[in-house]
Amino acid sequence: MAYRFMTNRIVPSSNRLSKRFIFIFTISLSFTYLCYSILFCCGTIMPTQSYEEKRCLHHKNVGSIKLLQKDCIADKRSALDETLNVALTHQGSSNARNQSRNSALPITHKRSIAPSEYNITVAQKYGNKKLPNALIIGVKKGGTRAVLEFIRIHPDVRALGTEPHFFDRNYDRGLDWYRGLMPRTLDSQITLEKTPSYFVTREAPRRIASMSPNTKLIVVVRNPVTRAISDYTQTLSKKPDIPTFEELAFQNRSQGLVDTSWNAIRIGMYILHLENWLQYFRLSQIHFVSGERLITDPAGELGRVQDFLGLKRIITDKHFYFNRTKGFPCLKKPESSSQPRCLGKSKGRTHVQIDREVIEQLRDFYRPFNIKFYEMVGQDFRWD
Ligand code: A3P
Repeated sequence: MAYRFMTNRIVPSSNRLSKRFIFIFTISLSFTYLCYSILFCCGTIMPTQSYEEKRCLHHKNVGSIKLLQKDCIADKRSALDETLNVALTHQGSSNARNQSRNSALPITHKRSIAPSEYNITVAQKYGNKKLPNALIIGVKKGGTRAVLEFIRIHPDVRALGTEPHFFDRNYDRGLDWYRGLMPRTLDSQITLEKTPSYFVTREAPRRIASMSPNTKLIVVVRNPVTRAISDYTQTLSKKPDIPTFEELAFQNRSQGLVDTSWNAIRIGMYILHLENWLQYFRLSQIHFVSGERLITDPAGELGRVQDFLGLKRIITDKHFYFNRTKGFPCLKKPESSSQPRCLGKSKGRTHVQIDREVIEQLRDFYRPFNIKFYEMVGQDFRWD
């Protein structure tokens, strides 16, 4: 009927063949229009917010702690940077395959992306959130931020930028909450987070072992006397009214009685904390980074970290340069930027001047602990 109606009314004088053609043309036009309408409709109904935006809104809604909002910003920033990031490690190695991949990106993002970086971008979109396989558990002021920022330029590592403090302060929130904080990873990638206070938290080893007894642990250790002074310098910068270092460090200075209840002192008694970890983990599951060598030879230390994590050695001395103004090694191209970048102002501060004699007293205090620690880990860190 429709056929008759259309062909007779619209082109009454046409022959039979052209009538049939017009009918088929009209039907296919209507069908195409229908398909477009459905697709357009879905586009507006389906959520267009990026995953990260949704996650941030969710976190705001549940009224979670400041950490999460900071985390959102950091993760959004790194998500954006990852999409835009230029090849860090494989610059110049992009090939025809990459170019065809790049052509799928919006025109403003077009540039040579190495396969490894493409992995990161793909993980960001299609990977899954997993509980960490590796943790930087300490020590505070040892150089933990440097290790995290350096290792995360590896294409097979995805790290949480902020410290989640799950195994010390937020354990009650549960593993699902913790997993939700993690970046998305592909199966081939390692999920990593760092919270330096884990090393000195009594419950942390048991809790981490119950998450996974195979978790790999990284501890960045530094001369405990320098570490204590660094710790105090940091506290002083936030609370200028605290007592002097000497007052806090000793119960009785003339007798050389050190106050081991002061955290800045207690953290540096590495062997005591390590013994707690060894009740739940084998020594081979713990890798010790020298905080001193991390400054003088970052590539060497990162080489060993990569070996420990079972990663290909991709981070080499080509990734670092020594920034004379900062006085520390910096990354030529960090994960979150294509510009050279040093760590922030709170890393590498000028320390408070401490009396030479006080330093000697603390050295004497730490010596037996250090020796036991060297024996246990099979490495001499040369702090004496
Ligand atoms: P100082 O500020 O006392 O010098 P953490 O990240 O664990 O808080 O450690 C901070 C320490 O990392 C700094 O202590 C600094 O010595 C050390 N560090 C190691 N490598 C660094 C780097 N490349 N840039 C800045 N600080 C670095």
